[in-house]
Amino acid sequence: MIDVRCILADEGRLLREVRLAALANAPGAFLETFAEVAADTDDVWDARAASSTGEGDALVMLALHEGVPVGMAGVAREFGQRRRHRATLWGVWLDPAHRGRGVGRQLVTTALDWGRERGVRAVYLEVVENEDPSWSLYGRLGFVRRDVDPFGGHVDGQDVALEHLVLVL
Ligand SMILES: CC(C)(COP(=O)(O)OP(=O)(O)OC[C@H]1O[C@@H](n2cnc3c(N)ncnc32)[C@H](O)[C@@H]1OP(=O)(O)O)[C@@H](O)C(=O)NCCC(=O)NCCS
Repeated sequence: MIDVRCILADEGRLLREVRLAALANAPGAFLETFAEVAADTDDVWDARAASSTGEGDALVMLALHEGVPVGMAGVAREFGQRRRHRATLWGVWLDPAHRGRGVGRQLVTTALDWGRERGVRAVYLEVVENEDPSWSLYGRLGFVRRDVDPFGGHVDGQDVALEHLVLVL
């Protein structure tokens, strides 16, 4: 049984655990490296969790299995009166043991609902080109490709193309 819920203000340690699990399991899907993210201090993680409860401008949804974090999705809206209608989806990941049962979709749709309820009009995200499972998920939710940046990332001496996706809520 998987529980999907918002992160709590004091769950910085849980956020660190799930984010590092994502980077260890799917390094090709993200542009931050495990080493970079692992270097962040506890204070940084505590501040991230505290600002991601959905009460302000950001939300992290967690998937938990028997209390252990096994998935996440983050969404953050932009600042300023003229940009608050935009938000970015980030960090979508689910432990492979729990994939294919709709949990990834649930993480993303609850994050999108949060934005919709707050007047967000457009949700953006970047996907490493050829990450097929994530494209299946986002395509089914209505995201469309805006363009491809051939120099979006640089991994092991190779350029990595990034697809820019957008969903109009
Ligand atoms: C992307 C990810 C979160 C999907 O999680 P999931 O729980 O397996 O996805 P779901 O079961 O909710 O499936 C959502 C939709 O995508 C489709 N889908 C999921 N995995 C798929 C796959 N491997 N191949 C084809 N379609 C797939 C499903 O058919 C489903 O569509 P439907 O609900 O209309 O049937 C998971 O595969 C993952 O963590 N991948 C590695 C990290 C990653 O790529 N993150 C995205 C970075 S931007």
